[in-house]
Amino acid sequence: MYDQNPTLEGIKTIDEAQQGNVLFKDHWKTSHAPGARHFYIESYGCQMNFSDSEIVASILGEAGFYPTRNIEESDLILINTCSIREKAEETVRKRLKVFELVKKERPGTMVGVLGCMAERLKKKFLEEEKLVDIVVGPDAYRDLPNLIGGAEAGDKMVNVLLSREETYADINPVRLESNGITAFISIMRGCDNMCSFCVVPFTRGRERSRDTFSIVAEAVQLFEQGYREVTLLGQNVDSYKWENPETGELVTFAHLLEQVAWIHPDLRVRFSTSHPKDMLDDVLHIMAKYENICKYIHLPVQSGNSRVLELMNRTYDREWYIGRIEAIRRIMPDCAVSSDIIAGFCTETEEEHQDTLSMIEWANYSMSYMFYYSERPGTLAARKYPDDIPEDVKKRRLQEIIRLQNAISLRHNQTEIGKTFKVLIEGDSRKSDQDFCGRNTQNKMVVFPKKAGLKPGEYTHVKIREASSATLLGDIVD
Ligand code: SAH
Ligand code: SF4
Ligand code: F3S
Repeated sequence: MYDQNPTLEGIKTIDEAQQGNVLFKDHWKTSHAPGARHFYIESYGCQMNFSDSEIVASILGEAGFYPTRNIEESDLILINTCSIREKAEETVRKRLKVFELVKKERPGTMVGVLGCMAERLKKKFLEEEKLVDIVVGPDAYRDLPNLIGGAEAGDKMVNVLLSREETYADINPVRLESNGITAFISIMRGCDNMCSFCVVPFTRGRERSRDTFSIVAEAVQLFEQGYREVTLLGQNVDSYKWENPETGELVTFAHLLEQVAWIHPDLRVRFSTSHPKDMLDDVLHIMAKYENICKYIHLPVQSGNSRVLELMNRTYDREWYIGRIEAIRRIMPDCAVSSDIIAGFCTETEEEHQDTLSMIEWANYSMSYMFYYSERPGTLAARKYPDDIPEDVKKRRLQEIIRLQNAISLRHNQTEIGKTFKVLIEGDSRKSDQDFCGRNTQNKMVVFPKKAGLKPGEYTHVKIREASSATLLGDIVD
């Protein structure tokens, strides 16, 4: 889970969206009705936030709002925000300046702030940003129709209540940004881990797992609609735990994974994120047993040094982490592993930074998301430890980490040259409509010339002839 390229498009064209989603299609059909109202939404932050925006779209659909990509025709502008690093919050503030201009042109337009930043700042948001009409936290989206009603009557509306139960299990997400082939399914919400650097436990509340039946039903429905890959989402999927109220049976993440894998051999299953302390061998054995569970684990290490890991309150040390990677290699020799890394955490020395570099080298990550430490108000680290690594040192360490990871990703990909992979075709490659792109089981992007008769959603075998640090190039083999 990471804050990747902020999507400014928010919503894809209706044609694209219609391919995969019946609900969306129906909404669109009637949206030209007189008096129909439209919402525009932008999402930032991790995949959970993008997934939440699809839940919000569903709730708004029920309330008579139709999605639009055109901010100029919207009655309601929503921004789903992230607080993970200071920069993520700055991006949101910049977008609000743009929305202010839109609101000047169309004074009736309402502006709502959703997600983690709304939760972190609460009512203060309304004081700081005068254009905002609605502030709503991640557990309060069902209240949106009511909040919108209040805002229409001229009131400023806030609901940032966190919940111990809410999982939106019964809500059928509107797949706003869908390619019709791959989809995300939230299986849990919140986080109980309290890593000292992290704001998520404060913005998303306590960890809770979603009803297993509703997860499997959603995956079945996606498969029937033509989707061929689902990614199960949670801040720490390994601690998924759901008790069947009727039988008392406890469903663990390994059980859940198996149930989703059973749906159909052509439905690929991925998941994110795994926490090293909870990723035990039961999950690895289930992964090894099913071809359609992808051989790829995102296992963020954060730091390669045990003292720093302790300060981070990650509750594992370097040795434990190494043991987990060894278990992955023993049980699934062809499994790729990726990571998240933080450079320049409080009091980190040069030697400790070297430990992170040596871990990257040893673990041979296929890729990593890399950041320098950004102190977040209210977190354990902000309260207990000095943010004492100067910014230029943080940035230099981060550069060293990025340079090493890029070299390793390239090396990793070069070892794939000459191998043949089963690839799920996702669509045209970004650069050419003569080429398809899709991923192999290790989550590597593969680009290859099209062949007549093959279409997105189908599997094909591709032999790799060339590799960069980010992409494999190849040709279809029969
Ligand atoms: N639940 C996931 C991570 C969620 S946040 C996990 O535990 O792995 C995504 C990533 O952002 C984290 O893995 C971490 O590398 C990074 N991150 C979180 N807080 C940060 C901070 N204060 N400064 C810099 N990076 C941070
Ligand atoms: Fe944040 Fe740690 Fe929870 Fe991940 S596991 S969301 S880093 S507190
Ligand atoms: Fe995700 Fe950012 Fe919130 S990473 S959980 S949107 S703080």
